[in-house]
Amino acid sequence: MTQKRCNVAVLASGTGSNFQAIVEACRRDDYPARVVCLVTDNPDAEALDIARRFEVAAHVVNAAPKKARLSEPAETKIVSLCADHSVDLVALAGFMRILSGPLLSGFEGRIMNIHPSLLPSFKGLHAAKQALDYGAKVTGCTVHFVDRTVDGGAIILQACVEVADGDDEESLLQKIHEQEYRTYVRAIELYALDRLRIQGRRVMIAG
Ligand code: GRF
Repeated sequence: MTQKRCNVAVLASGTGSNFQAIVEACRRDDYPARVVCLVTDNPDAEALDIARRFEVAAHVVNAAPKKARLSEPAETKIVSLCADHSVDLVALAGFMRILSGPLLSGFEGRIMNIHPSLLPSFKGLHAAKQALDYGAKVTGCTVHFVDRTVDGGAIILQACVEVADGDDEESLLQKIHEQEYRTYVRAIELYALDRLRIQGRRVMIAG
């Protein structure tokens, strides 16, 4: 690949299976992005082991435990880490904090998130359980841009998952995860290829 790759920072708080899927895609010669760092707010995140295994630079930011919103100093720290790594795109992958300060303004239009439902249905925590409890027959995942709303930014890609009669939260989440990996990898690829065109709430794919 001759063109410059898009530098991606992944922010994750937990298991990091989406982080791993993105890192693995970035190892392909023909993939237009690369993960330059992992940032976590959780010193015990399994994502840190993945970063070690794949030799990705990892940073733990100091964030007050149990606070939903990331503090301003923590966001400022992440902005400065991103500058150090020449980050073009920030990908939230199971990052359990709401952004509202310097990171949002510093990377406006350049932050993505993945959510385990077909937004705008089932925003917030435990989206697969919400879908089951509601009796939905179809759910899925959504990759969207991050704005000041929670799970409310413009939708980039979605993928559907059928809810089978025998599904419980765990089996449904597993099916959603499989869709998440390929959907997130594709959304980052489209961004890196500069093929996303935003018109209001609608994100079109050029070319
Ligand atoms: C994913 O289901 C994602 O949609 C949600 O958090 C979960 C993270 O899983 N935002 P993992 O840490 O990538 O395994």
